[in-house]
Amino acid sequence: MCGIIGITSLTDKNLAQITVSCLEKLEYRGYDSVGVASLQGSILEVRKAKGTVKEVVQKKNILSMRGNVFLGHTRWATHGPPSDYNAHPHTDCSNSIAVIHNGTLKNFKELKESLIALGHIFRSETDTEVIPHLIEEYRKKGFDTFTAFKKAVLDLEGSYAILAIVKGENRIYFAKKDNPLVIGMGEGTNFVASDIPAFLDYTKKVVIINDGELGYVTPTSIYIEDLRGNVIDVTKRIRIIDWDAQAASKEGYPHFMLKEIHESARAINDTINGLLSETELVEEITERLKGSDRIIVIAAGTSYHAGLYFTILLNRLGYTALPVIASEYYNINAKRGDSVIAISQSGETIDVLMGIRKMKEKGATIISITNVIDSAISRESDYKLYMRAGPEIGVAATKTFSSQLAVLLFLYAYLAKIDYKELLSAPEVIKNSISLGEGIAKKVGEELALQKSVYYLGRGLSLPLAMEGALKIKEIAYVHAEAYPAGESKHGPIALVEKGYPVVFINDGELTDLLENNLHEMKARGAKTYAISVNKRLGAETEILIKVDKDILSPFAISPIIQLIAYYASTAKSLDPDRPRNLAKTVTVE
Ligand code: F6R
Repeated sequence: MCGIIGITSLTDKNLAQITVSCLEKLEYRGYDSVGVASLQGSILEVRKAKGTVKEVVQKKNILSMRGNVFLGHTRWATHGPPSDYNAHPHTDCSNSIAVIHNGTLKNFKELKESLIALGHIFRSETDTEVIPHLIEEYRKKGFDTFTAFKKAVLDLEGSYAILAIVKGENRIYFAKKDNPLVIGMGEGTNFVASDIPAFLDYTKKVVIINDGELGYVTPTSIYIEDLRGNVIDVTKRIRIIDWDAQAASKEGYPHFMLKEIHESARAINDTINGLLSETELVEEITERLKGSDRIIVIAAGTSYHAGLYFTILLNRLGYTALPVIASEYYNINAKRGDSVIAISQSGETIDVLMGIRKMKEKGATIISITNVIDSAISRESDYKLYMRAGPEIGVAATKTFSSQLAVLLFLYAYLAKIDYKELLSAPEVIKNSISLGEGIAKKVGEELALQKSVYYLGRGLSLPLAMEGALKIKEIAYVHAEAYPAGESKHGPIALVEKGYPVVFINDGELTDLLENNLHEMKARGAKTYAISVNKRLGAETEILIKVDKDILSPFAISPIIQLIAYYASTAKSLDPDRPRNLAKTVTVE
């Protein structure tokens, strides 16, 4: 969580403006407070406050700041509530060093106490503030800045992506462990940021920083070493990113979420084409899966729902497949012979990362499915598959859910000996579903927006989709929603149903007869019923019916509709679906 950006340039022209535009792209990572530091020679200035990028830029007149070096931070609070003084950057006692940080420091209390004992004055409740004071302390002892920075980093326990600047130095020091950090190489201007879309308007040339590495960037050079002091050959790390900056802008849509739902067809087209270009890898992975004792699928949130969908299919094929909610990874005793499929859009979700590390130690083989290239999870995997859905900026996962399903169904097609070409019309199914269903989804969303609570019911493969529908409306429209196996609803949840209680059925056409019984039970108790159905009508009061000609395509008919319902419920309440409260796109704290 938290978005960080650092820019160092030969010129001070437009640097404040560029920093703000990068911060706007990073705001999905956290948005409770914002801060900027500018440095010109020996003049270091910090302006920061609680609020969104727009509010703080205006309130603190950020655009009037001048300098060749800038740091920008948008915060998702962990230690200390959102406030002006807890906003980053944090400085040392003499205001000569400014630091921004994404992550959490486990040992900050001990460090803070010992620094206070040495006379350091703290001005926030954050864990981050120990960093500038540590650097200050080591500099006082006579170390040059880089050595002082390294020593400070070695004192830290926990996770971090850190940027630091120091009066009189036109460079940005950085260090990374368990939180993402990428360098963008421009002409006479270099960037260091939490992710690539932050600086994609300015450069596509990137260097990914690995865990345990630190160094500094100047406007024209990059220096990286690992914690043992080995110097990294940066030229071998340079990659050119093929995402365009347009993909990271709203292109006329009112919100990223709506744009990204509408982009789903294009996204899975790219996903499938990508897989077609690496069928050897897919075959290798499926052979590995066939020979596995168990297939453990680990993921969080939306990615977990895609994983659950896959495990149902695997179990039906006769495999022993185990879905694992990433944050509960410690319950799983993996062993040699197991294969682990880790699914993560960001590739940075800390619980997934910790889970795969533990299972890898036990000898399991790790296969990752991520969207962000070279992310931590993909780097630590034995086999890596990419979704290629392009950058997803809206906090709620939409097009990447469809892309995850596309990757998983591609693997399934290989395992089940179904012709994978059946998946080639998935993009058409999505387009068709949106064009047929968006109007009704809007009406349903607007009705559900007025409700306090709603059930999403499904059976079989419809259940993970019902779970995803409930998660979406909960997270962006703040409507309490609960997903249940439709048959199980009689064992408790139905007690809440009274006249007008909304129940959304997800009916992928496979178990329609059984679902019909559940629909009648709900109707008999006065429920207001809705259904998203594929091929077979269920008989709900409001129903969206989409036809597909192959069973394997049915989730692609349903996924955009559950997303659109949540989107329109959110906008009906005048909420911002791109930035749901308390949430961040990438969850890098346990
Ligand atoms: C929901 C959502 C989250 C993520 C979850 C996992 O819309 O976006 O539930 O799915 O935080 O994130 P990744 O896939 O990046 O591991």
